Amino acid sequence: MGLKSIIFLIVLVGVRGSPTSKTASADMLASSKIMLETAKETGEKSTLPVEVVEEDVMATGELNPNHYPAQRAAKVVQHYLNTRYGSPYRLFGLHQVHSGNAEDVSNSGRRYQLEISVHEIISNKTQKCSAEVFFPQGEGPLLAEVQASPCDELLHIDTKLQEEALYQQYRNNQSLLSAQNLPDSYGHIEPDMKPFWHLAIVASSFIMLKESTENTLYNLAQVASIKQLATENEQLKFECHVLLHEMVSQEIPQWKLQFTWSSAGGVNVLEKEQLPHCHSCEKAQNSS
Ligand SMILES: *[C@@H]1O[C@H](CO)[C@@H](O)[C@H](O)[C@H]1NC(C)=O
Ligand SMILES: *[C@@H]1O[C@H](CO)[C@@H](O)[C@H](O)[C@H]1NC(C)=O
Repeated sequence: MGLKSIIFLIVLVGVRGSPTSKTASADMLASSKIMLETAKETGEKSTLPVEVVEEDVMATGELNPNHYPAQRAAKVVQHYLNTRYGSPYRLFGLHQVHSGNAEDVSNSGRRYQLEISVHEIISNKTQKCSAEVFFPQGEGPLLAEVQASPCDELLHIDTKLQEEALYQQYRNNQSLLSAQNLPDSYGHIEPDMKPFWHLAIVASSFIMLKESTENTLYNLAQVASIKQLATENEQLKFECHVLLHEMVSQEIPQWKLQFTWSSAGGVNVLEKEQLPHCHSCEKAQNSS
């Protein structure tokens, strides 16, 4: 149910052999966790069990599709697809990782080859795709490079009419849209607001794609607020405040962003700013 994601952490520490043994193998020491996460983006009740093994070194070669390394890389593909093809009526989620392979690319980074199923949430269609994610190593801001193919059944879902209608409705309206807490603390979103929730997820995907590394797994937790701004041009303009959830660190980074959208021009992020960490946010939301 929406934000109320339930995370079970079951730590199973390997206890084979003598606890004092100095030759305990890495996998004996590794703790594994099982996490059940509700599908936050969709508000659906489906759960994705993710078995997690903590490792000191990056997994290389054939990956367990349910373990973090493969899941993290696959999540980057989701964010990439949303930045490229997302709209108020087209939103991608990671449905399943079927297989994964990771390799070091001499001194330049690491490449993941993945077979995944991608879910287009609004049409409720799922398709198998191949994807490649390359995490460059080195100085400076490094953006993961993603290729995904073919996925074309999902990309060609026709949303033009709905988008045009939404665009005209809010382009020609005297009053500007404004909404808070999507979803609310009961996991509910007014049907009218769903397209704007989707838009905020797409805009946030630009941040999540940019912030993603091999060691992160980002979801959008909540849109704290979204408001439409007046514009002179053909684009609708929005400002929103979003709460992301980074599952590995369990942090809730908050961002403020401004973006434009039109049925013809898609989503463009104009400004983004990370807000200082806020300890009282959870409380504030629950009591509002
Ligand atoms: C989406 O599709 C799946 C399988 O195709 C089905 O089981 C599920 O009920 C559908 N969900 C919705 C919300 O229609
Ligand atoms: C105009 O916007 C207001 C507030 O967002 C909304 O209640 C109203 O339904 C909109 N009117 C039309 C014609 O869409």
